Amino acid sequence: MENEEKLIGKKREKEKDKNEGKEGETQNESNKKEKKQKKSKKSKRKEKTEKNEKKNEIAWQQIANQPEKVLKNEKFEFYYKNQLSQFFPTPEKFEELLSKLREKLPCVFRISKAHFFHEGYKKMLLDDLYIKSLLGDQANLIKIELKNLTSFKEWLNLVYNININRMELKKNDLLKNFHKFVQFGVDGGVISRQEAVSMIPPMLMQTLSTDKIFDMCAAPGSKTAQFLETVYEKYDFLDKKQYLKDTGFVLANDNNHQRAYMMVHQLKRLNTAGMVVICHDAQLFPTLYQSNTYNDRLLFDKILADVPCSSDAVMRKLPMKWKKWSTKEGYSLHKLQISILKRGINLLKEGGVISYSTCSLNPIENEAVVAEIMRSYSKNGELEILDVKYAFKNTDIIPHQGLNDWKVMIEDKNDKNKLNIIKDINDPLYLENKSLISPSCFPQEDIKNFGLEKCNRFFPNDSDTSGFFITLIKKVKNFKNEDVDKDRIVKPNISEPKKKKDEERDVLFVNEKFKDKINWIKNYYGIEDDFPFDQLVTFSNICKKINFASKGVIDLLKLDNEHKLMVENAGVKLFKANKQKNEKNTDFCLYRVCQDGLMYLLPFMHKRIYFVDEKMFAEILRKKEINHNDINDEELKLQLKKDTPGSIVVVNVKCKPNNDEIKYGNEKEREEYNNYLKNNYIDAICCHNATTRITTMINKEHQHIFELKYKIENILDNKK
Ligand SMILES: C[S@@+](CC[C@H](N)C(=O)[O-])C[C@H]1O[C@@H](n2cnc3c(N)ncnc32)[C@H](O)[C@@H]1O
Repeated sequence: MENEEKLIGKKREKEKDKNEGKEGETQNESNKKEKKQKKSKKSKRKEKTEKNEKKNEIAWQQIANQPEKVLKNEKFEFYYKNQLSQFFPTPEKFEELLSKLREKLPCVFRISKAHFFHEGYKKMLLDDLYIKSLLGDQANLIKIELKNLTSFKEWLNLVYNININRMELKKNDLLKNFHKFVQFGVDGGVISRQEAVSMIPPMLMQTLSTDKIFDMCAAPGSKTAQFLETVYEKYDFLDKKQYLKDTGFVLANDNNHQRAYMMVHQLKRLNTAGMVVICHDAQLFPTLYQSNTYNDRLLFDKILADVPCSSDAVMRKLPMKWKKWSTKEGYSLHKLQISILKRGINLLKEGGVISYSTCSLNPIENEAVVAEIMRSYSKNGELEILDVKYAFKNTDIIPHQGLNDWKVMIEDKNDKNKLNIIKDINDPLYLENKSLISPSCFPQEDIKNFGLEKCNRFFPNDSDTSGFFITLIKKVKNFKNEDVDKDRIVKPNISEPKKKKDEERDVLFVNEKFKDKINWIKNYYGIEDDFPFDQLVTFSNICKKINFASKGVIDLLKLDNEHKLMVENAGVKLFKANKQKNEKNTDFCLYRVCQDGLMYLLPFMHKRIYFVDEKMFAEILRKKEINHNDINDEELKLQLKKDTPGSIVVVNVKCKPNNDEIKYGNEKEREEYNNYLKNNYIDAICCHNATTRITTMINKEHQHIFELKYKIENILDNKK
């Protein structure tokens, strides 16, 4: 009898192993497929960036050979000598601007204050010894210098300038390991490369976690990322009621489908639940109503209109602009810029603030646009241009006041290198160019009423940046003729039609459509009832991936009951379906937990969670796969063997007061751990527990950050 039982037992084991094998296989297959798809998307993206970088590099090489020829444009010089004479009154002063525009831009990056490893990463970055160790034997051949850019109070010690440009960082063999370190930081969302002046709008806007923020022209998403960093800086993942306070959101829009897609990738690095990416023509952003009465429109607290522009203030980044520059680009964008800003003002709450910005020095794209908005919408003081100069005190950045007068110029018909000044709309030259130049391009009599001097222009020669223009406008009171058009027809001018796979549909609320899946998840992972299941969304009618979105995002998506929004992504990935080949197996893990959104789930999760000490945690990270039998901790080994194969979470308890008392997941353990977490961040990794081993299930970006954090040897091993 005993023998029989043993035999049955062995048979079961074998079967379990076989199934496990299949399950492992399925898991591997789907992982491989997924990786392949991701790789092709990633490599396309990489190819494109590299192509652009190559173009610029070729341009810079040409420049190095003949700088006076390439970085010169008489028209451009004539134009700005006239427009900016109050700032550059002498030829020498003006030459200072031109010569700075001819230099390459320094490389600037920002450390994300919301990232759990930002302090640690900064320490490494500023540690001479560590950096020298990355340079190895050749450390004396190269000097890496970091300059802390003094900035707004909330961003102090977070913005750095580095003395090595991007190309050199990539190409110089001596910098290989340092480049990897930087790349780990960028991919893992700890740092973001961004031009210093481009950081100004979110720095000035002082967003709150309850703010509804709309970024109208958001790709590639650097300013959106800044908003998210501010909103999530103080998010307390251990406060189970925190999600109730997370009522704001950042809605990021771009009309270029490819750029919107790239932005999704960019923002995913931040692993935050408060973002939505959409793809619309910003002028035609649809009206959403909060109730059925049609006079209760969704309005925003803060809006960013970082509009498409001629980019002539970023010639340091785009040297080919010198050759191509003409007045036409500014005129042809002027109307679009007005139209986007008007839509933005329409969508702003009373008391809300909109930021209008361009990376152009041109008054036609700047003051003329703002003046037209004030003219159309602020007859009775409905709008106010905010004076923000005080905010730049004690910073490296110098704002110059906006213009109340400028010239309208156009290329000479017979000599394209010469510009003529058009006096006003009665000038015959204007009539000739009426189709290109609109009357709003001229400074009109009413101009002094608007307070345009409170606009801000930044020059590259002041603090070695690009040029930039920004105006903050407050909607003091609502005005008549606002958009209350309930039947607004959206004809988006998007660059490509949105391609949807068969099984993909609009946003679906998992708790409403897939109750069975919710129940399975709840039981399998032991998730408390008070977890906000209503905040889970999916984009496919087979519920392939499940994202966790902030309360604010959910409220927004629920308003869109007519499916007007073209959503690319919302929230952060939390669960992913496993292939269901073995669905008859009741133990089969239908959904695995994803690392991206893990922090939101952890405080509510009670099953399949393993607390290990720091040594073990680091070992799992380093080896990526560990056989149960190689685990020294007997209790852990036993527990893992006993548990069914599937997704698990492994948590580091390095600071637990008494390591001897580890009881897996019991109340005492949890309480102690929670105390530790109050001062530290959660270190937890998603793994797969198989019958004989555990394997980490995290992407390389997360892996790299953990590797840096735990200073795991060989992190910079080239084989990786
Ligand atoms: C200056 S860039 C924005 C940069 C971005 N705010 C950042 O800081 O990363 C302007 C963006 O506007 C987008 N765009 C152009 N026309 C648009 C429109 N009509 N509606 C929405 N986006 C538009 C472009 O695709 C481009 O990505």
